[in-house]
Amino acid sequence: MSLPSKVKIVEVGPRDGLQNEKSPIATADKLTFIDMLADAGLSVIEATAFVSPKWVPQMADHAELMTGLQRRAGVRYPVLVPNMKGYEAARAVGADEIAVFAAASEAFSQKNINCSIADSLERFAPVVEAAKRDGVAVRGYVSCVLGCPYQGDVPLADVVRVAKALHDMGCYEVSLGDTIGVGTPAKAREMIRAVAAAVPVTQLAAHFHDTYGQAIANLFAVLEEGVATVDSSAAGLGGCPYAKGASGNVATEDVVYLLNGLGIETGVNLEKLAAAGRFINGRLGKAPASKVAAALAAQLA
Ligand code: HMG
Ligand code: MG
Repeated sequence: MSLPSKVKIVEVGPRDGLQNEKSPIATADKLTFIDMLADAGLSVIEATAFVSPKWVPQMADHAELMTGLQRRAGVRYPVLVPNMKGYEAARAVGADEIAVFAAASEAFSQKNINCSIADSLERFAPVVEAAKRDGVAVRGYVSCVLGCPYQGDVPLADVVRVAKALHDMGCYEVSLGDTIGVGTPAKAREMIRAVAAAVPVTQLAAHFHDTYGQAIANLFAVLEEGVATVDSSAAGLGGCPYAKGASGNVATEDVVYLLNGLGIETGVNLEKLAAAGRFINGRLGKAPASKVAAALAAQLA
């Protein structure tokens, strides 16, 4: 299959990238990071999560962050929402796009959001209904599409069932998450083919974590299957607090370098993106997890 001519990148660094950081990060630094990402040309930036601060302390400043956001024209700032309480809190501070998040693994659903997959879908239904009424776009996530830290293998049928349920509910896009980064290209391709039989491939996004260094290879495989939306995190930050040992999202720098090399349009300026990555890494006292970011930084030295 041919590759897409254009890819939409959903930058998840400020949420997925930072949610697992143990030390507090100043809201002002998060806002600077978000603005640098927007300046680099990223048009969708997942800003924060309206989840319980007891569960994910790093996202506790969600309201302050949304209030301080300097919105740029043409940039969307979705936020994660697990239930009506999160939806109402997000709306109260101007969120106009949300994402609900389910899992294909029963065990992960329990650990991550403290309920079964069926209960989570029931919980999301009124959120999606309210969002439709309010003109708020809803994205859906499915976690553990290529493996689960608790359950191990995840049957493809479960991935397809949950992805279809989110799509049927009204999610305009379903992001398929290899939460613990265990996938390899043939499996990623097979997974996309199976889901694409139930949800149009144009409404699917690939969300790969890079724990085993396979994310870029997996992405190439699913681009060939027609996927044209990719989630990634500047500087390769991240990890899920409920997926022990999982490392960061595929780095946006690596994704942009790959896509530039393939002649696929992203609208992202790699130098500015790398500067955003260096900024947040500096605040976190971290070296970049991205090889592209490290190579670009070495050129500056
Ligand atoms: P629960 O304890 O079952 O909820 O947690 P509850 O309804 O029984 O409420 C318990 C307490 O939480 C109450 O407060 C509620 O008010 C409060 P208390 O009376 O004890 O003071 N509460 C909330 N507070 C703020 N915002 C809310 C909210 N809801 C209830 N929205 C809950 C259930 C879903 C809230 C909890 O499990 C939770 O917040 N989980 C979030 C987990 C999370 O954020 N994980 C990371 C994101 S998912 C991910 O990273 C994967 C992804 O990247 C894709 C991939 O890689 O696969 C998306
Ligand atoms: Mg993730």
